[in-house]
Amino acid sequence: MVAMLDKVYVETYGCQMNEYDSGVVKGLLKKDSYEVTLTPEDSDVIFLNTCAIRENAHAKIYARLQNLGYLKKKNPNLVIGVLGCMAQNLGDDLFNQELPVDIVVGPDNYRDLPNLIQKIRESNQVNAPIQLTHLSRTETYDDIEPEVVDGIQAFVTIMRGCNNFCTFCVVPYTRGRERGRPVSSVVREIQRLSDLGVKQVTLLGQNVNSYNFEGLDFAHLVSTIINETSMERIRFTSPHPKDFPMHLIELMQREERFSSNIHLPLQAGNSQVLSDMNRSYTKEEYLDLVKQIRNAIPDVGLTTDIIVGFPNETEEQFQETLDVVREVRYDMAYMFKYSEREGTIAQKKFPDTVPEEVKSERLIRLVDLQTRISQEKNLEKIGEVFSVLVENRSKKSDKDLSGRTHCGRMVVFPVPEGSYQDWIGKTLPVKIKQATSATLKGEFVGA
Ligand code: 5AD
Ligand code: SF4
Repeated sequence: MVAMLDKVYVETYGCQMNEYDSGVVKGLLKKDSYEVTLTPEDSDVIFLNTCAIRENAHAKIYARLQNLGYLKKKNPNLVIGVLGCMAQNLGDDLFNQELPVDIVVGPDNYRDLPNLIQKIRESNQVNAPIQLTHLSRTETYDDIEPEVVDGIQAFVTIMRGCNNFCTFCVVPYTRGRERGRPVSSVVREIQRLSDLGVKQVTLLGQNVNSYNFEGLDFAHLVSTIINETSMERIRFTSPHPKDFPMHLIELMQREERFSSNIHLPLQAGNSQVLSDMNRSYTKEEYLDLVKQIRNAIPDVGLTTDIIVGFPNETEEQFQETLDVVREVRYDMAYMFKYSEREGTIAQKKFPDTVPEEVKSERLIRLVDLQTRISQEKNLEKIGEVFSVLVENRSKKSDKDLSGRTHCGRMVVFPVPEGSYQDWIGKTLPVKIKQATSATLKGEFVGA
């Protein structure tokens, strides 16, 4: 008789780093003879890999756990675990809420998961959950081959943690100090992905361009990947504006395979607010950096993150954020209302003074402005021809393909002939015919 393997189901919330970490968890448990399943209903172990970055991220998890309680009633042996950033910073609270949780494990402790599951199973006590949230200065899981391939693209974590302590942000507390993965192990993983047919890799880190391994910096890592692997396109997220030396910008300008797409979080457009946020740049320094980047790479794709309603932000200071958005003209922006997070410096130093209605109203004005700019910028592209790396069929129809230009813009266009599968992974010339604020639509124009 063939022994039945225990089934593990992992649900991921939050950032791409969490997607990658879920791959690490699946890789680790597979090694320990678990089978990965795609539905919670028939599983023996359920993990929610959580995010704590903003208020709504954690509200979602509480609701999901309550909802999973019915499976525990059907199967008392089911083990439910909370992983990731929320596990790290809200572990105790999770237990106090009497939610159906057996294990709470932070991002640096996944190697212990098989043992912890075992322990829970062996313990006869009901409601005796285990919590393991020890932050490590060295763990990078660099020997684990995670499962994070999505068609022709994959994520690769190159560093973990963050030393910046932006005052609003919980990440330095949930993911600990910065540590880079060895260059050789990153290169090996990327070549393995390339051998499997992956064409585009996104290098991940909470602070990706602060990468450092034994004195080797981010630009060194990227040029080694370019020289020593056959990966076609290399992207990265998320960087901090403080670590953009000229030699990194020049590398991007020079290297065709290094995508000229930069996510450059602004957070706020007023220097006092930036200082209160501990962002370590002023409005002027940020705008200077944008100028340097655009001078070197005129068609660079620029995106950003912005928070409105940080404590004490006045209408005039918010107006400066709008001014910066007008001046930079980002291709796209992620925009958030400030939400106070447990344990952060802002929570201790700056009462959350901006009323909710004011935050909402600022957010609407900012989103309106950015949507108008995205649309104008996209309309300017009509008539241009771009090399598009086809990533997938379009979400709406398998008669259309979707892919990205070298500068990171999404383009949708009809399948030239045959089936959409024939084109995935190919780089094709596409002429832009129509545009909305969110998408460019085009047509294949022959080789
Ligand atoms: N409130 C609102 N937005 C936040 N972010 C991080 N922490 C907070 C918070 N407390 C946003 C920042 C960051 C992005 C990932 O999430 O803009 O760049
Ligand atoms: Fe958070 Fe700032 Fe670190 Fe980004 S750089 S993860 S916003 S502390």
